[in-house]
Amino acid sequence: MSSLRTLLAALFIFAVAFDPSAVNAKFSNSMYFYWGAHHSAILGNGDDLQLVLDQTSGSGIKSKRPFLFGSIQMLIKLVPGNSAGTVTAYYVSSSGDRHDEIDFEFLGNASGQPYTIHTNIYTQGNGSREQQFRPWFDPTADFHNYTIHWNPTEVMWYVDSVPIRVFRNYENEGIAYPNKQGMRVYSSLWNADIWATQGGRVKIDWKVAPFIARYRSFRARACKWNGPVSISQCASNTAANWWTSPTYSKLSNAKFGQLTWVRDNYMIYDYCKDTKRFNGKTPPECFKPQF
Ligand SMILES: *[C@@H]1O[C@H](CO)[C@@H](O)[C@H](O)[C@H]1NC(C)=O
Ligand SMILES: *[C@@H]1O[C@H](CO)[C@@H](O)[C@H](O)[C@H]1NC(C)=O
Ligand SMILES: *[C@@H]1O[C@H](CO)[C@@H](O)[C@H](O)[C@H]1NC(C)=O
Repeated sequence: MSSLRTLLAALFIFAVAFDPSAVNAKFSNSMYFYWGAHHSAILGNGDDLQLVLDQTSGSGIKSKRPFLFGSIQMLIKLVPGNSAGTVTAYYVSSSGDRHDEIDFEFLGNASGQPYTIHTNIYTQGNGSREQQFRPWFDPTADFHNYTIHWNPTEVMWYVDSVPIRVFRNYENEGIAYPNKQGMRVYSSLWNADIWATQGGRVKIDWKVAPFIARYRSFRARACKWNGPVSISQCASNTAANWWTSPTYSKLSNAKFGQLTWVRDNYMIYDYCKDTKRFNGKTPPECFKPQF
């Protein structure tokens, strides 16, 4: 009995010691406010956060360190009620003019819902790859899990573990892929009423301010970027680099089924189908197998 307990304790210590998220998880340890700190807060034991937008400013937080590959988890409860004109952004991004970026943005609605879940990806400074979805739940009623996963083969956007979007690596065919720059994790809440709601026609109603988005359980189960040496280190196929295992290189049949369900029922915009916008020159990845 006691040896079993010792074994369990040892396993527990092993798990804690080797789960990078357990070491470096809390907002208070791993992130800092770069904007609007005067009215935002890290609460509780450091694992809860609120971002605030009022007439003085919005607010934003970023991770102290950059990452390359892995999973970035955030549980978010979006601004309730009349949130028209507000945007809650949650993304990973490198810096510089040829930056990489993987985005979730949540566009508010005057009637409370539905929200628009807006996604995009920039590679080497090139974006314009928007896809938009309706959530299949009220994202203001409770916390939901928004996870960005990326590895040498593909980028995946997950909502409550349902994949809503995939961007595959076609670097060999000349399409840039986000695998050479460390990216920090960001989240911000800001006034985007010049464009966010019905193309900017619906403005923020400051009478219902402050607008508050709540966060918890930020986890970066990801490879720490230590400069260019990480390009090969984070991509090398080792047990520690779990994101390089074959399981993560392609959606399972079950996950593919979920993705198809979302695309069939909740997708409201796909840049790959917007032929007018690109003047007939739809981006090349749209012609490759996408999942
Ligand atoms: C959030 O979603 C990711 C991706 O599916 C998953 O790995 C993780 O365990 C989920 N976290 C929680 C708290 O459910
Ligand atoms: C806001 O919600 C209404 C339904 O209440 C919906 O018809 C409308 O399309 C939504 N607006 C946006 C910008 O998503
Ligand atoms: C950016 O995208 C456009 C359109 O797909 C493409 O013509 C251009 O070569 C890309 N630039 C880079 C740096 O990848």
